[in-house]
Amino acid sequence: EKDGHDWFMRKEILEQPRAVADSLIGRRTPSGQLQLDEMRLADEELRDVDKIIIIACGTSFYAGMVAKYAIEHWTRTPVEVELASEFRYRDPIIDATTLIVAISQSGETADTLQAIRHARSQRAKVLAICNTNGSSIPRESDAVIYTHAGPEIGVASTKGFLTQLVACYLLALYIAQVKGTRFGDEIDEIMRHLEAMPDHIETVLGTAEQVYGLAAEHASTRSVLFLGRHAGYPVALEGALKLKELAYLHAEGFAAGELKHGPIALVEDGLPVLCVVPPKGRDQLHGKMLSGIQEVRARGARTICLAEEGDDSIEPYADALIRLPKVPVLLQPLVSIVPLQLFACELATVLGHDVDQPRNLAKSVTVE
Ligand code: M6R
Repeated sequence: EKDGHDWFMRKEILEQPRAVADSLIGRRTPSGQLQLDEMRLADEELRDVDKIIIIACGTSFYAGMVAKYAIEHWTRTPVEVELASEFRYRDPIIDATTLIVAISQSGETADTLQAIRHARSQRAKVLAICNTNGSSIPRESDAVIYTHAGPEIGVASTKGFLTQLVACYLLALYIAQVKGTRFGDEIDEIMRHLEAMPDHIETVLGTAEQVYGLAAEHASTRSVLFLGRHAGYPVALEGALKLKELAYLHAEGFAAGELKHGPIALVEDGLPVLCVVPPKGRDQLHGKMLSGIQEVRARGARTICLAEEGDDSIEPYADALIRLPKVPVLLQPLVSIVPLQLFACELATVLGHDVDQPRNLAKSVTVE
């Protein structure tokens, strides 16, 4: 069932354009209004929500971090993102106007389930974003948005992550529509960007051979750093997690602005640093990222940069340059994570590891 691929993970990475397309089917009425009918949460209830807390673990937690940027920007509703395993131990402030969003691919993660139980005992409403029909997490939640990744077999989450991002964007836009925020006017435009994503992901999959070459070239490294900013920061964390779990390498993701506050001391000659460059925009993010890249390179790092098509400013500072399609910054994780997935999958393969069943890990973590 691997369709001729060596690993389920590789097959699942390649399935992402379809998974994202499937996650967008039926989300708009003929008049262009966004609909999330299956969710079972009334618009009045959503309108009353004054705080959102996202709880999840691992890759799903990083999807939640991206969601925070999108929800706060489009809906102006404050969002906290919390590791499910920490949530109930800090006496969180929750009430009936708090919406808990629990993100889980498997729907069986014990940490997340326990956090849901705690939230519901405090009268909060829980909305699950889940890939597994009828699993425990949606069953114990008030509402659910199913992702449409199809079964994910590889232990490392890939298409699960992309479809979680899509569900989070849809939720954010839906809340904006219901609350009538000023970004309501832009929903149509953002939806059109989302609908173009399967093609963009296909384009970025076209970099696979280049990425595989880079993975082979760096197979003997002992450590890899990942840098990102804004929505690219969770992507850096997720890229590092993929490499840890599959290649058993020291890998760390940082918000690029934090470099100078400590991590830059780690940089030494030849250290590979993967840099997720934000699109050039009206803000200063791009320029700040560029100076972070210059800083690490000046200290001997080998910079592998992921930057959008036409961004020439990166060229002088990139030892390798992987091109991304031009997309809005909030949606960029849907394309920027793909080369990082390919990189981890290939590097682990070159090292001779079992990519689908990495040591010490299980697909569903059903113990706390
Ligand atoms: O099934 P879940 O989304 O609740 O799983 C959460 C994590 O255990 C999971 O994302 C884990 O980090 C993956 N192995 C990452 O690739």
